[in-house]
Amino acid sequence: MERLSLRPAAGEIPLGGPVLHFDVTGSTNDLARELAAARAPSGTVVLAEEQTAGRGRQGRSWVAPRGRALTLSIVVRAGDEELALLPLTAAVAVCEACEQVARVDCAVKWPNDVWIDERKVAGILIEARPQERWTVVGIGLNVETNEEELAPDLRDTATSLRIATGAEVGCGPVLDALLDRFAEWLAAGRDRLLSAYRARDALYGRTIAWSAGPERREGEARGVDEAGNLVVLTAAGEHIALTAGEVHLVRNIPGDEPLGRLSR
Ligand code: BTN
Repeated sequence: MERLSLRPAAGEIPLGGPVLHFDVTGSTNDLARELAAARAPSGTVVLAEEQTAGRGRQGRSWVAPRGRALTLSIVVRAGDEELALLPLTAAVAVCEACEQVARVDCAVKWPNDVWIDERKVAGILIEARPQERWTVVGIGLNVETNEEELAPDLRDTATSLRIATGAEVGCGPVLDALLDRFAEWLAAGRDRLLSAYRARDALYGRTIAWSAGPERREGEARGVDEAGNLVVLTAAGEHIALTAGEVHLVRNIPGDEPLGRLSR
């Protein structure tokens, strides 16, 4: 895989940090966090062919076959507005990168899982230390992963660019496209970013469930607000803005399209 640097265009937030390419590491997020704490510049990219302790959201692990998936972390130092919208920024950038290099259509499951045909192709883990003004954006993207290389319990819900298209894509072109799109969307401004995200919102109008302490709640997803929170309409007519955490799609009966989709 070639070494690349983020090339900011005029007016973009500079992201011209080095790309550190490792053969094997524990977790690229862990390394990027150490580098960020040691004042690595914004745009420093930590990339690994293989992770031995890859981490996912909610304390889960992230496993990817050596050399066949992108596993990278980017150090970002940006203003408060850009930071608040980073989950959406990263998700939109991943969608566009995938679509540039492969014949796929990507959507986002809030806040930042990237789906192809409702199967997860990429996950994003964002870790921030606001008082030190750094954030690490970790991205795991299944590029050439085969069906057999997916964990058995994920085979119905995960995919890769190779599985979705049947064609070879290669990690290098995806990385190039991803760094380019990420720099672009980081500099894009709230309005453009929110409309790009809303156009890819996989949950809009659909019934979702989430946990509020011990309680399981359900409602209809009504898109993201200006701060990137997920707005949910409950059966009691209450609008709730979810700021963080995990939501689950309550699978609808085929043919039973929710009305929210029509009124969008
Ligand atoms: C998720 O659970 O969906 C987020 C997965 C994030 C995985 C990536 S792989 C590169 C980076 N390093 C890690 O340890 N995790 C992230």
